[in-house]
Amino acid sequence: MKNINPTQTTAWKKLKALSEEKKEQTIQSLFTDDARFDKYSLRFEDILVDYSKNRIDEDVLNVLFELAEETGLKAAIEAMFTGGHINQTEDRAVLHTALRNRSNSPIEVDGKDVMPDVNAVLAQMKGFADQINAGEWKGYTGKPIKSLVNIGIGGSDLGPVMVTEALKPYQNEALEIYFVSNVDGTHIAETLKKVDPETTLFFIASKTFTTQETMTNAHSARSWFLEAAKDESAIAKHFVALSTNAEAVAVFGIDTKNMFAFWDWVGGRYSLWSAIGLPIACAIGFDNFEKLLEGAHAMDNHFKETKLESNIPVILALIGIWNTNFLGASSEAILPYDQYLHRFAAYFQQGNMESNGKYVSRNGEKVDYTTGPIIWGEPGTNGQHAFYQLIHQGTHLIPCDFIAPAISHNPVGDHHVKLLSNFFAQTEALMNGKSLDEVKSELNKAGKSAEEITKLAPHKVFEGNRPTNSILVKKIDPYTLGSLVAMYEHKIFVQGIIWNIFSFDQWGVELGKVLAKNILPELEGDEKVSAHDASTNGLINAYKSMR
Ligand code: F6P
Repeated sequence: MKNINPTQTTAWKKLKALSEEKKEQTIQSLFTDDARFDKYSLRFEDILVDYSKNRIDEDVLNVLFELAEETGLKAAIEAMFTGGHINQTEDRAVLHTALRNRSNSPIEVDGKDVMPDVNAVLAQMKGFADQINAGEWKGYTGKPIKSLVNIGIGGSDLGPVMVTEALKPYQNEALEIYFVSNVDGTHIAETLKKVDPETTLFFIASKTFTTQETMTNAHSARSWFLEAAKDESAIAKHFVALSTNAEAVAVFGIDTKNMFAFWDWVGGRYSLWSAIGLPIACAIGFDNFEKLLEGAHAMDNHFKETKLESNIPVILALIGIWNTNFLGASSEAILPYDQYLHRFAAYFQQGNMESNGKYVSRNGEKVDYTTGPIIWGEPGTNGQHAFYQLIHQGTHLIPCDFIAPAISHNPVGDHHVKLLSNFFAQTEALMNGKSLDEVKSELNKAGKSAEEITKLAPHKVFEGNRPTNSILVKKIDPYTLGSLVAMYEHKIFVQGIIWNIFSFDQWGVELGKVLAKNILPELEGDEKVSAHDASTNGLINAYKSMR
């Protein structure tokens, strides 16, 4: 991987000049070119990505591609797919793509092909998921499993939550699935109220098997279970571990034959394709899990093999960089018009912000440019009645990705056409806005007085010119979802390469964890603490007096 400050490249300087030069150019004006939609939209199988409603033209795009070339993107892609230790601060390869390498071509990490291990765990997952689905895996009283409870947090939670929610129409109706992540006792307590120890299977999902939240919840689940089963040997039928840490799994008391392994080259937030995906495979069946992997693999091939100019993740990443570094956007909204995708934005909040939320460059210096954006979003149309006001008329520029399926899993009455009419209308409104003249003539037609018109008109004007991408898919099925997730993963990767940061570590989450560990013993007893700053001392002491 190259190690260059992107702002020092020729392309960056050209982009700066272009952003000045084209300051007044509007997206709307670019649509005088009738071919713009054809030029600036791409199809990948059942996915259409329309990026024409951005403040880009041929000049800008060409220089963005130059930026990708100058910063060594192609070599970096090659390094990732071939097992190079591109996660340099942890000295690890980054190979979530191997987990879904359906071609099964060898991929070597430090001289060893990882595919035999990947295939062995997939076979183990299939065997297990098939037994759960067929009702053949029995609990300690001989009853089949009905409730799946995943205990994990971050990447060991969000991927399985997002996917099982997104693919609910594919779920085995004989099973129900729950996710416990928060160390707040409410999360486990409320979940345990709904399940029966005789028919519940717990997945203890943790790459490290040391995460405080997960281990605390896992121990509470274990105690709850043993209160009913009264026999430690029953644990083997009700607890499985998804982890890289066999030793810690054994210490917890889970037989390592009930452990599904993965490896240090799988990042937590990229792990849904690994053993962490076992709850997905159990809920929707292994065949559907395989389709998810296939869809992701197809997108991997597209990303690896397609020239930059028609490479969807590359283009989305470059437009993101244009918006962030040259147009001043600091956040991006992900707005799925599909209720089943209601955790999609939350999933990529971790995916993107834990990956690219870095201010130190690959050469160890503080960057002098903006890196990863704030990612947020909620499904449409709910968001329209909550935060879209700010997107339309606020002072922040918020580029949005709109995602919608053409075919609904629930074709109830005219719901879907209503939903999609909103999807199409929003990107149109964000681009075109509404001019002062239009507003005035509307108010005039509505019979308002000249005085009222002068007063009201400015508030009703929409500047427009807000950039959006529209991602229209045929249907949210396992294959398409796999492709969509991989598309965003690669977008994040490309941006990290260009911003010259390390996207695959997450040191920024450590400090808080360490301090919490130090504070925990101080919360015992009633004596006042004084080891911290006045605010932290004050808060801890107030807590002690309140409880
Ligand atoms: O605290 C951040 C983090 O390390 C994430 O990167 C990870 O997905 C999550 O915690 C959970 O980690 P683990 O799977 O090791 O429990």
